[in-house]
Amino acid sequence: MAATPQTEAPPAAKGADLQEMARRHLWMHFTRMGSFDNEHEMPIIVRGEGCYVWDQHGNRYLDGLSALFCVNAGHGREELGEAMATQVRELDFVTLWSYAHPRAIELAERIAGLTPGDLNRVFFTNSGSEAVESAIKLARSYFKATGKAQKTKVIAREIAYHGTTMGALAATGIPPLRTPFEPLMPGGTHVPNTDSYRWPEDRDPLWAANKIEEKIIWEGPDTVAAVILEPLQNAGGCLPPQEGYFERVREICDRYDVLLVSDEVICSWGRLGEFFGCQHYGYQPDIITTAKALAASYVPMGAMIASDRVFEPFSEGTAMFAHGSTFAGHPVAAAVALANIDIFEREDLCGHVRGKSGEFRTALESLADLPIVGDVRGDGFFFALELVKDKETKQSFDDEESEALLRGFLSGELYRNGLICRADDRGDPVIQLAPPLIADTEQFEEIVETLRPILDEGHRRIAG
Ligand SMILES: Cc1ncc(COP(=O)(O)O)c(C=O)c1O
Repeated sequence: MAATPQTEAPPAAKGADLQEMARRHLWMHFTRMGSFDNEHEMPIIVRGEGCYVWDQHGNRYLDGLSALFCVNAGHGREELGEAMATQVRELDFVTLWSYAHPRAIELAERIAGLTPGDLNRVFFTNSGSEAVESAIKLARSYFKATGKAQKTKVIAREIAYHGTTMGALAATGIPPLRTPFEPLMPGGTHVPNTDSYRWPEDRDPLWAANKIEEKIIWEGPDTVAAVILEPLQNAGGCLPPQEGYFERVREICDRYDVLLVSDEVICSWGRLGEFFGCQHYGYQPDIITTAKALAASYVPMGAMIASDRVFEPFSEGTAMFAHGSTFAGHPVAAAVALANIDIFEREDLCGHVRGKSGEFRTALESLADLPIVGDVRGDGFFFALELVKDKETKQSFDDEESEALLRGFLSGELYRNGLICRADDRGDPVIQLAPPLIADTEQFEEIVETLRPILDEGHRRIAG
C-alpha cells in the first residue's frame, strides 16, 4: 500500500490497555472468554511476516496453522496491500447484486480456468460458511428447477466441520456445535468418515464410501440433494480418503442423481499441492466451496463454484438463483485474490508444496517414536499427529484426560514455546499443522524441535 509518511505513532492502545479493553469488549469466536484474567493473558498478535507472527510483547511465533488455513502465501505480502489501494483508487465498491465490475469478472474467469472440468460458474460469498450455505441452497434450488423438488437432504460425514450458519451447521457433524442451536435445518444427515486408524484390518477399504450409498438408499434417493465432503477432512484430524474413495463416491452420486459438493474451504489454494483439493485426489465435483486462502484472508472472500450443468437451469429467461449478499465479490477482495493468484503462479507455491510435502511428513513421522504419538496422517502441507494414551492398544484419552492434556497443557505450552498449531479433540485428540506454503526445511525442523519435548512432557503428565 502506498506509504503515508508518519511522524508519530498512531494513537493506538498499547500493552495492558489492549488486554483490558479486549477483556471488557471483545467477544472472540469459539473461545472460552472466562479463561482470561490478570494471570492468563489473551494472546494478542500484532505483526506478521512470512511464516511468523509477533505478539504485543515482541515474542515471535511460527504460524504453524497459517492463521487457520488462511494466509497460505505467508504474512506481510505488501503487493496484496498495494492491490487493495490501487483498487480503492479505481473503484471502491459496487455490489454484484444486479451490477458487475471488472475485478469480479476477471477473478471468476481466472478461477474457472484453474478448476477441473466444467466448474465454470463462480458465485462469490464472504466466508466459507456462506459458500457452504450457498451450495446447499443451490442444490435444493437446482432440483426444484429440474422437477425433483423432493430432493432436499444433505449427507455429510461425522465430525466434519462445514461452518456455522444454520444450513452449513446442518451439514456439520460435531454434536457440541449443533446442539446449542437445535432444531437445525431439517435434512442434514451423516455417514462415517474415513478415519481408518482403528478400523479392523480386514475391512473393505471402500467401506466408508459404500456407507454413502447405504445412507442414500435409507433416506430415499428421491429425497437426497447433495453429498458434501472435504477432500481431506480437517476435523477429526486430517483424515485422508482411502484409495478409490472419491471414484466410488462419484459413481454413487451419479447413480442416484445426487450432487457432489467438494468443501474446499481449507483444501484449495495449494494446501494439498494443487489449486483445488479435488485435483489432488483426482475427482470431479459438481460444486466446489472455497474461502480462507482465496484472497489470502488479507480481506474476507469465499466462493461457490458450480458446474455448467448445475448452472444451466438458472441461465435463461426469468430463472434466477434467489440468493446473494451485498458484499460478496467485493472489488477490493477480488483485486487481492487476483494478486494472490499471481503470487501462487509466479512462485509456484503448489509445486513447492508437492516437492516438500514428503519432507514435512518425514519430519513429523520422526516423532512417531514418542509414546504419545499414535498416528501421523495428512497430505500436502496439512498434517495431524493423533495422540494416544497407549500406543499398542491405540487407546485414546478420556474426556477429562483430553481436556487436561490439550487445554490444560499442550495448547498453552506450545504457544509459550513459539509454535502456533491446533491441539484439538473434536474427534480423538490431535495436533494439527498447516504452515504457510512458503515453509521449508527450517520451519519443519523448528516444528519438530518444539513439539518433541512438549509432547514427551504431556505424556508424562497425563498418561505417565
Ligand atoms: C471445511 C470448512 N467448511 C466451511 C468452513 C466455514 O468457513 P468460515 O469460517 O469462513 O465461515 C470451514 C471453516 O473452517 C471449513 O473448514
